[in-house]
Order: sequence, then C-alpha cells, then structure tokens
Amino acid sequence: MSIVDFLTIDDFDVSGKTVFVRADLNTPIDPETGRLLELHRIRESSFTVRHLNGARIVLGSHQGRVGRYDYVSLSMHAEALSEVLGKRVKFVEDVFGEASRAAIRSLEPGEVLLLENLRFAAEENFEYSPQEAAKTHIVRRLAPLFDICVLDAFPTAHRAHPSIVGFAEVLPTCAGYLVARELKSLNRVMMTSKAPYTAVLGGSKVSDRLEAITALIQNGRADNVLLTGLIGLVFLRAAGALKKPLLGDLEKYVPKAQSILHEYRGKFSLPEDVAIEKDGERVEIPVSSIEDPGKVLDIGEQTIRKYSKIIKSSGTIFISGPPGMFEKKGFERGTDELLLAAAGSLGTSIVSGGHLSAALERLGVKDWVDHVSTAGGALVMFLAGQRLPLIEALMRSAKRHRGGSA
Ligand code: 3PG
Repeated sequence: MSIVDFLTIDDFDVSGKTVFVRADLNTPIDPETGRLLELHRIRESSFTVRHLNGARIVLGSHQGRVGRYDYVSLSMHAEALSEVLGKRVKFVEDVFGEASRAAIRSLEPGEVLLLENLRFAAEENFEYSPQEAAKTHIVRRLAPLFDICVLDAFPTAHRAHPSIVGFAEVLPTCAGYLVARELKSLNRVMMTSKAPYTAVLGGSKVSDRLEAITALIQNGRADNVLLTGLIGLVFLRAAGALKKPLLGDLEKYVPKAQSILHEYRGKFSLPEDVAIEKDGERVEIPVSSIEDPGKVLDIGEQTIRKYSKIIKSSGTIFISGPPGMFEKKGFERGTDELLLAAAGSLGTSIVSGGHLSAALERLGVKDWVDHVSTAGGALVMFLAGQRLPLIEALMRSAKRHRGGSA
C-alpha cells in the first residue's frame, strides 16, 4: 500500500468543522488499582488532536473487552490526554445518546470532547460489512453531527467495527497522522527487511496470536517463531510438556495449537525453563517442574540465552507482547534481555505495543530499533499481508473523494 492511496488531514480545511477522530486510546490497566499503566497510545494519538487547527474535535475510542477487568470508562483517559495536550479535554459519559449529541453540538472551535468507551455501545463489539456498519445506530445518530471522519486507530485497523468502517461510508474520511506515520515507517522498514524472519510472540491475547502465527508463517514472515507468555504455555501444553491443565479457558486453545505445531513443527521454539515467584523471589525451574502454570511470571535464563542467539542471527525481528510480567521486580529480565538482543542485532527490528515501548525507553535503546508501533494484533496482520478493514475504508473514501466509484 502506498501513502497516496488515501487522504490525509492535509487534504481538508478543518477549521470550524466538527471532526470525528477514531483513535485507539486502549491502554493497559493495573488489575489491582484500576489505573492506567502507561500512556504510550495516548501520547502518540495526541499529535493528530494537536494539529486539527480550529476544528471542533470529537474523539472516540474503545477500551478493553466486554467482561474483562480492563473494560472501563474513558474518564481517566480524558484526564491523561488533557495533561499530555496541556489543555482541557471534555468528557461525556455517553456514546451516542442525547447527552453526547448535546455535548457535540455545544463544542466551540478548538475544543476537544472524548466520548465514553465506544464498546459500551453493543454494536461496537461486532464486525460488519461497511454498508451494514453505516446503518448501525451509532453511525446513524452521530454522523449527521460530523463534517469529517479521521481514522487514526492503527492498533484497531484489523477490526471491522462501526466506528472503523461505518463513518467512513457516509463522511469524507482521511487518515490521521498516527496511521500515516505507522504505514510510512512500516512500508520503509519492510522494503529493506531480509530473511530469516523471527517473530517473538508473547502477551495475553491467545486467540489473536493463534490466528497471527499461521498468517505470519504462511506469508513467509516467520521462519522462526519464539513463544513466550501465555501463548508459550498453551504451546507447551500442546507439545505435552506440561502435566497440569492451564488456567481459565486457556485449555480450549490447546487443540488448535497442537494442529499448528503438527503442521509447522520445525519453525517453533518453546520455553525450556521459566521463572516463578517463591517467597517474593524469582526462582528458575525447568518446564518439566511446572506445578502451577498460573505461577509462571517470566521465561528462564536458558530460554533467554537461546532466544537471544536466534534473534541476533535474524535478518528481521518482530517482537510483540512482553515475555513476562515485567511490571513485577525481578520478572522484567526476559523482556529486557530479548529487547536488548533485538536492539543490538544487525537485523531490522520492529517492536510492538506500549509495554515494550516503555521497556525500550527504560533501557535507553528506543532509538536503536527500526520501528516501534502502537499496534499489536493489527501490526501482525499487516506484516502477514492480511487485509485491514481500516485501510480499506480509507482507500474507498479516497476513491469516492477523487471521483471514482468505491
Ligand atoms: C489492541 O490493543 O490490540 C487494540 O486496541 C485492539 O483491541 P482488541 O484486540 O480488543 O480489539
């Protein structure tokens, strides 16, 4: 995809207009305190807001997923964004009801309003065709109040939700600066990238990861797949290396992991040892001694050494999802060592997500990697050459704007 296939903010005069910006402010939440853990996406999204000169800005974002501890209000995000921007961001505890419509109508040029978590509206939790998305209540109620739609939610580019594909059907729509920057940088990085490709995958979104692994391998973007975190435990269980069942509903992913492992066995590296917490200390044990998979908080030294060696001899490295619970002292080692291996390697390195970006900053090597993306799952889909509904929506809108039929 080329940068000229879609419109950008610079194609419009936004002054005095009411502009809907679909951002992705979805941020890791501390399960104990309920507070925001870091501000990576909020900071990165602020650039577009800052540069919509003279517009009435209405921001929309989701946070978390229904039923999870991180499915919370965006009121904290409004406060955080106010601090980042150095000006007040208004917040309305409503998505498309009368309260939010009245708040939008009363905006003055230059003011910013953040709507409540879009996923509090049921429709925003489902995928639609663009035509169906345009008929949802959320789009029908809000779109008449907007002049322009700016899609800036690169981390949600893989979801065909109404706010991603629906507004773009009925409003002139362009890419925000974050989406444009991510695509420009990723296109540049991928043009010069070389084999062997190594994907280091961790984090907690196991179902997304399973899909992503197959897509990456099939598209020649993963010669080596190094697994850590929950997805590593699922594959260890699939390989018969764990005696005890996994926590919660993770067991349901094991059959799928078994079939992937069967089909592509030679591509995978699984943890050989892990770190657990005992009496408040980091203790290393071999995988065969894991009694309670829920207690595993990091990969072990032997695994760190093995993975670092593969990373350093790779032509392209992609790291997504932290290998361990790095917020807990002593369990940041796996995350830090793998990031340092990627930063110090001669290969092209792409690191994804706010957690890892914060770790790179703490280690002082953020500038040493080739691209730090705000996205997780969407980035994997992009690298695997999959279609991204947000990008397609931008391309359709540009075609309509330039007089072609979409
Ligand atoms: C992400 O964090 O990957 C994006 O915000 C998308 O979130 P989702 O996986 O819950 O759709």
